[in-house]
Amino acid sequence: MRPFIHVNCAMSADGKIAGVDRKQISISSEEDKARVKNLRKKYDAILVGVGTIISDNPHLTVKGLDYDSNPVRIVLDPDGRTPDDALVLDDQAPTIMVTTKNCTKEWDCEETIRSDDKINLTKIMEELAEEMGIENILIEGGGETIASFFKEKLVDKYTVFVGGLIIGGRTAPTPADGEGWVAEKGIKLSLEDSEVLGNGVLLTFEPSYD
Ligand SMILES: NC(=O)c1ccc[n+]([C@@H]2O[C@H](COP(=O)([O-])OP(=O)(O)OC[C@H]3O[C@@H](n4cnc5c(N)ncnc54)[C@H](OP(=O)(O)O)[C@@H]3O)[C@@H](O)[C@H]2O)c1
Repeated sequence: MRPFIHVNCAMSADGKIAGVDRKQISISSEEDKARVKNLRKKYDAILVGVGTIISDNPHLTVKGLDYDSNPVRIVLDPDGRTPDDALVLDDQAPTIMVTTKNCTKEWDCEETIRSDDKINLTKIMEELAEEMGIENILIEGGGETIASFFKEKLVDKYTVFVGGLIIGGRTAPTPADGEGWVAEKGIKLSLEDSEVLGNGVLLTFEPSYD
């Protein structure tokens, strides 16, 4: 058994999730920000990769919720690059760091899971569900992390807000980065819904894997 996995992100009209300097750019409309706030409340956990922690230093909490009501925050960090003063480690919500056995870094957080030499996503997801009762996870980025979940066929729902701006730059991150994989057909998505949210559109897809 593994959690239901929903990937949510915001990209520009030219398909970028940040600028070439990898710094955060405001892409979401006010309506989309309100949607994301409500979405976070519905999930047991919010997950990001360490690249997002280093670039954006997000809190990953819902304003107004206390420690016990906020979703659990999960960070994939195989080499222990998350600094001790990262906001994701503050006392506003529980945090689970996912790293490898080779990483000796200790964090002041609820739980540290040490995977094998490489992070085995499927195994970690099963552990989160079976041992920690996490039934659903919202993945908020970045591109490397999202790609790794798609590659392992673990994404059940994909929502992307396409905002009214062009960011540009061939090295600017996109929703599914990483090394890529040779795929004749790519991963097929069926469009479930589309909704105008201010100066952009929210697209809801359901992936299907062969
Ligand atoms: N617009 C949006 O919705 C949105 C949301 C979030 C982030 N962003 C942007 O995205 C950019 C960050 O994205 P990113 O792709 O650089 O970083 P990321 O996906 O946040 O983190 C990538 C890193 O996390 C670790 N990781 C992720 N998945 C892993 C796996 N399956 N196994 C092992 N390690 C794994 C690796 O760490 P190591 O490198 O240590 O191996 C990897 O390099 C920033 O520019 C940020 O502003 C945009």
